[in-house]
Amino acid sequence: MPLNTENIVILAIESSCDETSAAVIYNGKMLSNIVASQIIHEQHGGVVPELASRAHQQDIVRVVNASILEAKINKNELSAIAFTRGPGLLGSLLVGTSFAKAMALGLDIPLIEVNHMQAHVLAHFIDEPQPKFPFLCLTVSGGHTQIVLIKSHLDMEVLGETADDAVGEAFDKAAKMLGLGYPGGPRIDQNAALGNPDAFEFPIAEMPAYSFSFSGIKTSLLYFIQKHGQEFVQENIKDICASYQKTLILTLVRKIKKAAKELKIKEIAIAGGVSANIGLREALKLEAEKQRWNLYIPDFQYCTDNAAMIAMAAHYKFLASEFADQKVSPLPRFQL
Ligand code: KG4
Ligand code: ZN
Repeated sequence: MPLNTENIVILAIESSCDETSAAVIYNGKMLSNIVASQIIHEQHGGVVPELASRAHQQDIVRVVNASILEAKINKNELSAIAFTRGPGLLGSLLVGTSFAKAMALGLDIPLIEVNHMQAHVLAHFIDEPQPKFPFLCLTVSGGHTQIVLIKSHLDMEVLGETADDAVGEAFDKAAKMLGLGYPGGPRIDQNAALGNPDAFEFPIAEMPAYSFSFSGIKTSLLYFIQKHGQEFVQENIKDICASYQKTLILTLVRKIKKAAKELKIKEIAIAGGVSANIGLREALKLEAEKQRWNLYIPDFQYCTDNAAMIAMAAHYKFLASEFADQKVSPLPRFQL
């Protein structure tokens, strides 16, 4: 059957970690974006892979149906089914992959695999204003910290990344140590807004070129807690969060500034769950004014995991006729 490129309607599924999400996109315009966040992990202080895949199985039918209903389309109008192939948790990815494959087979339409990190960047094309090529993106999530050069929608080059922990992990693990629970990033962010960022000092790892390291600062927080004791920590929780967060932000801002300067690029974007951080957004806005950057910050709903970004990536892949085979399997470590 020849492809209809006049009416491109794609259903996209995201299930790489602990969010089950489905979205419908019509000719590049988002018609729905349903996200079911798994609260089961809160009581465990972090994502439990086995529970995550089970929750995806329980939620996926409901989430996909809701996205089709909200988009006001009939599934027979779909041009393709897209899914996150990786990176992510294998058990979680398997649920979305199997569901997408079965649906594409049942409807006899093409299948599109999407790289989750590429999709985080392409979230910038859901709404206006959109960055102009080439641009730099600081992609910061629970599993990744990357500086990416984006040459076109589907041509991206990772210039540098973390040698150990991702910055999102540095947020989440710190929150756990500080007794703030899970999800850690938003809780540190909220406390930091009310604290003094200069109250305490944490080390910045000096890393070559555009690479990062966040394991040292995490260990230094552990020593800080051991030295001062939990009572002191609880009394000073806001100042500790503010100081710790300031150091993480400074590390990120320094590197994106270095890349922008060396590559002479003034179109700068941020993406991924940590781009929801208020402190980071504000620090980058200040830097953008100083450096005369055109800065692109995603809407909050498109920072953390969502299927809208998968749908956006799938739209460009559909235009480029990049389809997946029914034999495709998830890639937990899918490189950009
Ligand atoms: O992109 P994402 O939803 O999932 C991954 O692809 O990993 O990112 C999740 C990460 C978590 O580490 C979470 O703590 C962090 O994003 N995050 C934040 C904030 N909101 C989410 N970190 C700092 N401040 C926030 N407001
Ligand atoms: Zn993500």
